[in-house]
Amino acid sequence: MVRPLIAVLNGPNLNMLGLRQPEVYGRATLDDVEQICIQAAERLDVAIDFRQTNGEGELVSWVQECRNRARGIVINPAAYGHTSIALLDALLAVDLPVIEVHISNIHRREEFRHHTYCSRAAAGVICGLGVRGYALALQAMTDMILDEDDR
Ligand code: DQA
Repeated sequence: MVRPLIAVLNGPNLNMLGLRQPEVYGRATLDDVEQICIQAAERLDVAIDFRQTNGEGELVSWVQECRNRARGIVINPAAYGHTSIALLDALLAVDLPVIEVHISNIHRREEFRHHTYCSRAAAGVICGLGVRGYALALQAMTDMILDEDDR
């Protein structure tokens, strides 16, 4: 059987993980995060497409490309979550389950991080659990896909 594909999309500055504010984001690099996702996907018997971009337009295009290709989207929109209506519109248009991930607890931080546009398109949001939030999101997304297939 073909394994369902889950897109794992990462927004701006996440390529700097490990170097960037380690007191906030920890020491794991984006490569480490990808390895965590690969291992979780193997365990869960799903396929992943793991990507990062600093460009808002590119992120929007990647979300659009998920239509008819992926079964769900796990996204850490980074700062675009707080600012981008274009990204929200793409997530609403793609008609797939979305789980939003933030490594840090955005609600404990500056007020401008408390709101994310993406949340309006998300089935759920995981924040503040560090990079393990990605594995938790993949687990939840796999459960949601299996539930859908049972229906
Ligand atoms: C982040 C939180 C955002 O506020 C911030 O702009 C990021 C990373 C996180 O993973 O904690 O770049 O999405």
